[in-house]
Amino acid sequence: MVRVQVPASTANLGPGFDCLGMALNLYNIVEITETPAGLDIEITGLGNDSIPRNKANIVYKSAMHVFNKAGYNPPGLKIKLNNNIPVSRGLGSSASAIVGGVVAANKICGNILSTYQLLEIAVKIEGHPDNVTPALLGGITVHARFQEDIHYLKIIPPAELKAAAAIPDFHLSTKSARKALPGRLDFADAVFNVERTALLVAALQKGELQHLELAMEDRLHQQYRESMIPGMKKVFAAAKLAGARGVAVSGAGPTLIALADKNQKYIAGEMQKAFQQCGIQADLAVLELSPDGARELKTI
Ligand code: HSE
Repeated sequence: MVRVQVPASTANLGPGFDCLGMALNLYNIVEITETPAGLDIEITGLGNDSIPRNKANIVYKSAMHVFNKAGYNPPGLKIKLNNNIPVSRGLGSSASAIVGGVVAANKICGNILSTYQLLEIAVKIEGHPDNVTPALLGGITVHARFQEDIHYLKIIPPAELKAAAAIPDFHLSTKSARKALPGRLDFADAVFNVERTALLVAALQKGELQHLELAMEDRLHQQYRESMIPGMKKVFAAAKLAGARGVAVSGAGPTLIALADKNQKYIAGEMQKAFQQCGIQADLAVLELSPDGARELKTI
């Protein structure tokens, strides 16, 4: 039996559309055991009423990709999932399921595949690397794709960097949130994001959080998704007023995430209140960054 813990993640961090991600200390646990025959899937926690318990299950499908690539043929599998990451809320729940499946399967077949091969498989399944990479590696990740290759680097986050999130009580699929994006962009908007992404990476690397307010601004995706996240601008304003260093849509939304070095609980509460004033119920989450990505939990 192999048991793997995989962090939630927040993608984009404002301007870093499809290229930045950060692991958060909210975890799903994926446990896979080889059995003599068949497939048995047990799910506890979030999504247990909606996640398939058959061969359509994403953890199963991801594990099978690894087994096939490694030439390993388990006669049967028992998969146990304990989910704490809200589903379809922009916190990387599907990336965490995929990463959990590939990492656990690789451990079962004797770590035949490298971390890079696992990343390649996971990105192919998920479609974008920005949740998969931090879920696998932890910390803050930066990546770029060149044809089939993924170039990536991990930044160890400044110790004082924390997060506060407001998680609305509705689902928003990445697929539908991507449909809201335009086919073409204004040159000035592209420059706006290049400037801010560069500033953000340098500020996170150096721990200079005073730059985050400017560095987390975006003009590539958030404005086009605003109509799908009622209250977005009011929640942004409330977070900043409460002391957030920067605030953004988490991934494709609908969760909104603030980065801060203090008063996270207060900031999350103010974000929750602002959502409420716009008629949206939201859970608040006070989060830390997760320096570790997917890792095996050894049973004692
Ligand atoms: N970067 C993606 C998007 C979300 O904003 O559509 C995570 O893959």
